[in-house]
Amino acid sequence: MILVTGGAGFIGGNFVLDWLKRPVSEAIVNLDKLTYAGNLATLSSLRDDARHVFVHGDIGDKALVSKLLNEYQPRAIVNFAAESHVDRSIHGPTEFIQTNIMGTFNLLECAREYWGALSADGQKQFRFHHVSTDEVYGSLSATDPAFSETNSYEPNSPYSASKAASDHLVRAWFHTYGLPVVTTNCSNNYGPYHFPEKLIPLVILNALNGKPLPIYGDGQQVRDWLYVGDHCSAIREVLAKGVLGETYNIGGWNEKPNIEVVKTICQILDELKPRTDGKSYAEQITFVKDRPGHDRRYAIDAGKIERELGWRPAETFDTGIRKTVQWYLDNPAWVEGVVSGSYRDWLQKQYS
Ligand code: NAD
Ligand code: DAU
Repeated sequence: MILVTGGAGFIGGNFVLDWLKRPVSEAIVNLDKLTYAGNLATLSSLRDDARHVFVHGDIGDKALVSKLLNEYQPRAIVNFAAESHVDRSIHGPTEFIQTNIMGTFNLLECAREYWGALSADGQKQFRFHHVSTDEVYGSLSATDPAFSETNSYEPNSPYSASKAASDHLVRAWFHTYGLPVVTTNCSNNYGPYHFPEKLIPLVILNALNGKPLPIYGDGQQVRDWLYVGDHCSAIREVLAKGVLGETYNIGGWNEKPNIEVVKTICQILDELKPRTDGKSYAEQITFVKDRPGHDRRYAIDAGKIERELGWRPAETFDTGIRKTVQWYLDNPAWVEGVVSGSYRDWLQKQYS
């Protein structure tokens, strides 16, 4: 049994689905608060799967987390739960401080108490895996080398500052209390079940709905795109073989300016689902006001995880983005549920 937090979100949901695809994989207790970003429709294929136990709750709830740990005795915690959207953190940082910092603090404290009471063997097996972001390293210039694990932390947004704080707590719980932790810092994920407030799903859905494709500033900001399935396989490797107290950067070796990403999506849609007027979806591109404090470039040097754990992403950007666009075309019901909010009704019906 492992305890996953935030497993109804984009990456956590993909992780749970990938994990349980394996015939002999351990069961999962999935603790998720179901904020606007949590969506049980993502997990609907697990409705009758006894290996998945969904618990609606907050990682900041000490009594609940302790109860789950004692009841299910997981041999690992994988912490995905977070407020994850930079733009929302600019509008209102409070929830980011609450969940990303205080929530992680609570999980660490509950884990420490639980781990301290395990047998010597149980203690040796146990892992606290903290999922974090490359944004903690700040912004790169066009010529800077990619982020390595030894870069200093220079977070620039309320979101990245809250994630940086949580990483520091995780590190301190290892050094001070010996809690067996590993941390991964990954680049921008994309793929199925991505909530359409983030660039790639937003552009796909706006394009199909005849809406503007908003590009912040000059569109030359660079992100390093990682297919979510590759992120999941990397986490499995780190969980299985990562050295305690270490951090591992996970990236896709796919640096792209935003404008190029958007144009690529338009080209794929032009091919797979042409506009009825025969024009390109690229006609819908619109440059809008920039994000305040917008980081110019992120790039991950994923050399350490390759050298030490033998992990490399399987997807290129070309293969991953094509799969992703196709997934959104093939899954209108999921999209409709998210957009209309009807997945919340589904949740009531299924789990109340
Ligand atoms: P997401 O916003 O899609 O999902 C977050 C999930 O956490 C949701 O299901 C939400 O309901 C749940 N949640 C929020 N607050 C909670 C709380 N207090 N208690 C329990 N559950 C709570 O996020 P994501 O994109 O899947 O990101 C997952 C993790 O990966 C986050 O920690 C994020 O910082 C990190 N990350 C994301 C990316 C990316 O590109 N999406 C890149 C690097 C790192
Ligand atoms: O780097 C990892 C991070 O990637 C994660 O830690 C975050 O949780 C995740 O949300 C993501 O953050 P970004 O801010 O990079 O992702 P987002 O999809 O919001 O934006 C990607 C880029 O596209 C960024 O440079 C801003 C730009 N953008 C975004 C939106 C939503 C636009 O130009 N227009 C838009 O409408």
